[in-house]
Amino acid sequence: MADWKSVWSRRQAAGAGSPLQALIDLDGFDSGAGRIREAAWRAYVTEIAGRLGMHAGDSVLEIGCGSGAFLFPLREAGLRVAGLDYSPTLVAAARAAMPDGDFREAEAGEFAAAPRSVDFVVANSVFHYFPDDAYADRVLAAMLGTADRAVAVLELPELDCRDDAEAARRGLLSDREYEAKYAGLAHRYFRRESFSSAARRHGFDAEMFGQSIDGYAQNAFRFNCLLRRISPA
Ligand SMILES: C[S@@+](CC[C@H](N)C(=O)[O-])C[C@H]1O[C@@H](n2cnc3c(N)ncnc32)[C@H](O)[C@@H]1O
Repeated sequence: MADWKSVWSRRQAAGAGSPLQALIDLDGFDSGAGRIREAAWRAYVTEIAGRLGMHAGDSVLEIGCGSGAFLFPLREAGLRVAGLDYSPTLVAAARAAMPDGDFREAEAGEFAAAPRSVDFVVANSVFHYFPDDAYADRVLAAMLGTADRAVAVLELPELDCRDDAEAARRGLLSDREYEAKYAGLAHRYFRRESFSSAARRHGFDAEMFGQSIDGYAQNAFRFNCLLRRISPA
């Protein structure tokens, strides 16, 4: 049976396209319902950065950064970027794309909070690969402890949409084809309330909104969560 870590560790560069499109593709947004083009990706990252108030010189850490597709436009905008991911191949690609970034091969679940040491901590399209809710809660708590200003947990599958999302994922596959392709590769689904209650416990405000990346077929099933620290430094 497959597992997500081996899936992500086997990703290979397709080779074609711009440097950023190559990272987007490597990070899994390259086929079917998950496909995202560079212009739409840039607009998405720019929108999130604007909502969070990110500026040149700020620091950002991504948990589950993959090859760094989300960080790449932020670095172009002058932010200092860092990331961790459990896929050695994707971490190597991030280092090659952003040699001045600080990239580590690590399990998100082993990430320990370094209190208020980074301006922003983000995770784009990562939490649904986590093994269970306790793991996700632990990672979120470490992100909230580490961020001096805000946390963004993005591309979260919405629990209320699970049946529709799974039907879309199943697509035209027969039961046998689906089982062969996805055995052991379940996605987790989340309630908005679990993020707003974690935010309250840690002294953050929560803003949630549905996903809207141009041309992205998963928009209807995903939400974003921005958590801003209430207490000043
Ligand atoms: C869909 S990709 C997104 C990559 C990147 N965040 C982006 O937006 O382009 C999901 C990433 O999460 C990473 N990942 C999933 N579970 C993880 C875990 N438990 N610890 C570390 N990385 C994980 C995978 O290796 C992969 O790079």
